[in-house]
Amino acid sequence: MSKFIFIILLCLPTFVNSNGHWSYKNKNDWQQNAHYCGGNLQSPIDLWFNRSRHDQRLKPLHLVEKPSHSEVIIQNNGHSVQLNLKDRYILKKIAPLSEDYNVEQAHFHWGHSYDNRTGSEHFLDGQSYPLEMHMVTYSSLFANIGEAASNTRALAVVGILFELSDEPNQFLQPIIDALQDIPYQNGQSTIKNFNLLSLFDEKRMHRYYRYDGSLTTPACFESVIWNVLQEPLPISYDQLRAFQSLYDEHRQPLINTYRKIQPMGTRKLFRSFHAHHIHDNELKARISTTENHAQRTFFNMKIILVLATFSMMKF
Ligand SMILES: *[C@@H]1O[C@H](CO)[C@@H](O)[C@H](O)[C@H]1NC(C)=O
Ligand SMILES: *[C@@H]1O[C@H](CO)[C@@H](O)[C@H](O)[C@H]1NC(C)=O
Repeated sequence: MSKFIFIILLCLPTFVNSNGHWSYKNKNDWQQNAHYCGGNLQSPIDLWFNRSRHDQRLKPLHLVEKPSHSEVIIQNNGHSVQLNLKDRYILKKIAPLSEDYNVEQAHFHWGHSYDNRTGSEHFLDGQSYPLEMHMVTYSSLFANIGEAASNTRALAVVGILFELSDEPNQFLQPIIDALQDIPYQNGQSTIKNFNLLSLFDEKRMHRYYRYDGSLTTPACFESVIWNVLQEPLPISYDQLRAFQSLYDEHRQPLINTYRKIQPMGTRKLFRSFHAHHIHDNELKARISTTENHAQRTFFNMKIILVLATFSMMKF
């Protein structure tokens, strides 16, 4: 009997491996076990303003809270920290006339302590950030996230980037406080007075980049409507360190939990905002020339069209 158990124990690691075990240390091998990871609609990407196009159909994303009295559960799952947000929030107005998207969870991606500028998955104009938060939702046309996960545009993720600041971010603090309770894998804690709306606040949800992409971890399903907010949120150095002080499944520091930038390919990148809504003055100056040029071209085309119509009317 004990021999039998011993054999089972020996087989266990391989069994777990073939069932989609993955880590950030072997991210170049992900596609061997998950072929979608080698696809051409992968995430994350570098979000270049000068490659994006304004789309007036992109309305402010609208997050609605459902009445709920239980505390939010936060867990160290060995490759991130995840908040279970099931049945608490609904994301509306993903597209004109589109169904609602149910918020399932939120999690983070970060870097390491000797670099204050890497850790995010998405980049903005060639620049990475030390932390990125993802709010994961699924289409209400599906019974649950598992059924939705591999279907085209059945998931929508909203991403927020964080940039280092001298002041701590008070809205992030309830999460930071919980991190010290969950240093190791499967560690679980609860958060009182959790408020997702203070991070994904209404004003910030007006300005975002939109593209079709994938989950950034295996199985890398290409089913995600991506929405990355244009304006980063502040985070203090000490708050950032709290993420970098966690441990993974092998009790090694849980750091560099991000996937590399993936090729854009032939995909289109849209944005919900005009250049003059950007707050970073340096960036604004750099891109305003492109935007003005585009607007002038459009204006000239309108004039030509009017003139052409007039000239046709004469005959
Ligand atoms: C976008 O801008 C960057 C520099 O800001 C430049 O390197 C790149 O070539 C530009 N891309 C396009 C498509 O204009
Ligand atoms: C990161 O930022 C903190 C706080 O500003 C600073 O003390 C530290 O030296 C920085 N680290 C690096 C590698 O730049």
